[in-house]
Amino acid sequence: MFVCVCNAITENDIRHAVNNGNETIKQIKQKFAVGDQCGGCVSLTKQIISEQLAVNACYYEVA
Ligand code: FES
Repeated sequence: MFVCVCNAITENDIRHAVNNGNETIKQIKQKFAVGDQCGGCVSLTKQIISEQLAVNACYYEVA
């Protein structure tokens, strides 16, 4: 699913970036330029970052 239509950034792109250490909206913006056009994707991007960080935290608790 496209999160940022203006820059063709997908949900998977963001999740992979979070898994590779880009854990803040600032880091994601620097990596993909998310939100630099219309800005309509910023809140969904923040939500995906939070979700992925929660998933990763659960993974490390079990592992
Ligand atoms: S949808 Fe991301 S900047 Fe427009």
